[in-house]
Amino acid sequence: MSHDVLTRQIGSSGITASAVGLGTWAIGGWMWGGTDEANSIAAIHASIDEGISLIDTAPAYGFGVAEEIVGKALKGRRDQVVLATKCGLVWHTRKGNHFFDHDGMPVHRYLGGDAIVYEVEQSLRRLGTDYIDHYITHWQDPTTPIAETMEALLKLKDQGKIRSIGASNVSSTELDAYITGGGLDAIQEEFSMVKPDIGATLVPVCQRAGVSILSYSSLALGLLSGRIGPDRVFEGDDQRKDSPRFSIANRQKVARLMDAIRPVAADRNASEAQIVVAWTIQQPGITFALCGARNPQQARENARAGRIRLTPEEIEQISEAAAQHLIDLDA
Ligand SMILES: NC(=O)c1ccc[n+]([C@@H]2O[C@H](COP(=O)([O-])OP(=O)(O)OC[C@H]3O[C@@H](n4cnc5c(N)ncnc54)[C@H](OP(=O)(O)O)[C@@H]3O)[C@@H](O)[C@H]2O)c1
Repeated sequence: MSHDVLTRQIGSSGITASAVGLGTWAIGGWMWGGTDEANSIAAIHASIDEGISLIDTAPAYGFGVAEEIVGKALKGRRDQVVLATKCGLVWHTRKGNHFFDHDGMPVHRYLGGDAIVYEVEQSLRRLGTDYIDHYITHWQDPTTPIAETMEALLKLKDQGKIRSIGASNVSSTELDAYITGGGLDAIQEEFSMVKPDIGATLVPVCQRAGVSILSYSSLALGLLSGRIGPDRVFEGDDQRKDSPRFSIANRQKVARLMDAIRPVAADRNASEAQIVVAWTIQQPGITFALCGARNPQQARENARAGRIRLTPEEIEQISEAAAQHLIDLDA
């Protein structure tokens, strides 16, 4: 099937993928009030059918659940996707730096070579594959030098188990260390209209070094989907339940932003969410935008945003509206 979705290269890896990627944190269920396997698999299939070739997951998303669901969905379709997963949030050892407890189980940030060698095998098994296209250090470990972590990752690359290397949730100092050591293809960071901060910090450094950026929570955890009105209630362990970002006042601010985006969306025969995603992949230095989806409808809508090219005037108009309405949403 031919698609006119925008595609880009991950750093200098030679690997090309759709600029809009499917994120699978919610598909893992944990922190999202649970998951539905059949709907999740259908969402992954719908994404691929719409031309999405980038799928991002992690062992921590449901503690293996998301990777297993992705593995089931990719049976017979592995060669159609660029598969990204992560390492460094571990529950098989207490080495490294304690991060949080999950159901009484301590989860540590640990990026020692011994754990990476263990973790990659667990991910390959859960994903039902023998290679990972993009392997990312999920959170940074203050107890292990980045050079040691990189040595382990480069060895996995030599062995053909991984094809490119990423780092996530990095400080400027950590990014410099990765770049100086060599071998880094991309970083993965929160970036959206609500959270544009890296634009002034990490983005210029990556642009100079030829490092790609995958934005995460590109729809601000769904807040920018245009579908979270004042009546939406979050259930169970859904992280949005008590989050200041989702206060009624903030939902009202976002509704005013959506009012400003609507004419552009109407001109393009698109939804507000699609305009938000299209804006994101056209921001300087943002190479890929990861968007979560829990069902085929959301998956298709987000995927189709990769076909929209906004004009500089439209981008400017939307940026101005975002700056006007989205003030202090996390306060
Ligand atoms: N490296 C990291 O530390 C890190 C951190 C966070 C995320 N990520 C990655 O980035 C991906 C994307 O971020 P995210 O999942 O956190 O947040 P997101 O993409 O901003 O929001 C995802 C949620 O928004 C809602 N949504 C999405 N598309 C929609 C649509 N078209 N219409 C209506 N609602 C829609 C869905 O939730 P509801 O249906 O429940 O409203 C969905 O689960 C993650 O899945 C993960 O792969 C990485």
